[in-house]
Amino acid sequence: MVKDQNIWQILTFGRTLDINELIANRKILEAFSLKGKNAIVTGGNKGLGRAISLGLASAGANVVIAARDLEASENVAKEIKKIGTDSLAVKTDVSNQKDVKDLVNKTIEKFNRIDILVNNAGVINRPRQAATEIPEEIWDWVIDINLKGTFLVSREVAKSMIENKKGKILCIGSILCEIAQAWHAPYVASKGGIRQLVKALALEWAPYKIHVNALCPHYFRTDFVKKSLEDPERYEQILKNTPMGRVGEPEDLIGSSIFLCSEASNLMTGQIILIDAGYSLP
Ligand SMILES: NC(=O)c1ccc[n+]([C@@H]2O[C@H](COP(=O)([O-])OP(=O)(O)OC[C@H]3O[C@@H](n4cnc5c(N)ncnc54)[C@H](OP(=O)(O)O)[C@@H]3O)[C@@H](O)[C@H]2O)c1
Repeated sequence: MVKDQNIWQILTFGRTLDINELIANRKILEAFSLKGKNAIVTGGNKGLGRAISLGLASAGANVVIAARDLEASENVAKEIKKIGTDSLAVKTDVSNQKDVKDLVNKTIEKFNRIDILVNNAGVINRPRQAATEIPEEIWDWVIDINLKGTFLVSREVAKSMIENKKGKILCIGSILCEIAQAWHAPYVASKGGIRQLVKALALEWAPYKIHVNALCPHYFRTDFVKKSLEDPERYEQILKNTPMGRVGEPEDLIGSSIFLCSEASNLMTGQIILIDAGYSLP
């Protein structure tokens, strides 16, 4: 019982709660609540970022949508307000340092504090190309947005999280954080870089209680992989290679995102978690 109480003390952030009381009163779910938290989601105006933004708002967070297409971001901000929390759309290119500083300033101006950052913005080199044919500009474009962008936004947000001695940073990686794929060298390199960046930042910022983790999807139905999923042969191959036999829907990422942005995951940092229906297992 003493051992159990220690575990529950950790889960409830030092508050001593009896395990029976927790279960009887359903209090454990309070640890998953994001009520009163302020979040930034990069690339929150469509696809996975939109689903994560709506999910965080449903769990109680105010959400700032940061992407280049301001009109699309404002539309998601409206959806969030309908859920009942506050939202702001800020035109942001994550690879541009000035934009990133502006994003952080505007967020603090409106919400005073940043509790959560989701680094979700990302691009992939298209068409698929042999590494020997990939132009330097395409390499720079993918690395600048996916890897440098993740660093720039994390760095700027962490400055205020360090002052608050608290924060949750969630990066949306890819199964390609762990495994490789031909024809997408810059994308694979950028996601492999995110894997190590998450670990480096988690180590450096652990003393400030800033948690840095990554969720890594396989194929999720968004514009990002639309072409592959619409090609019957490719789609069949993907399903064949997926032990659970299906691709992800954007909403499949919501539960794990809320968990990693909430107090329920307070002992997790530097983790690379695959959400892939078993794709990477064989
Ligand atoms: N869907 C999948 O199967 C899958 C699998 C593994 C990993 N992922 C990862 O999940 C993340 C989201 O992908 P998705 O499927 O939702 O793709 P998506 O529908 O194409 O959305 C990409 C998002 O990134 C934003 N973005 C792109 N460049 C940006 C920049 N320079 N600055 C700010 N925002 C930028 C876009 O907004 P703007 O164009 O308005 O800027 C958009 O909101 C990406 O990091 C991707 O690598 C996706």
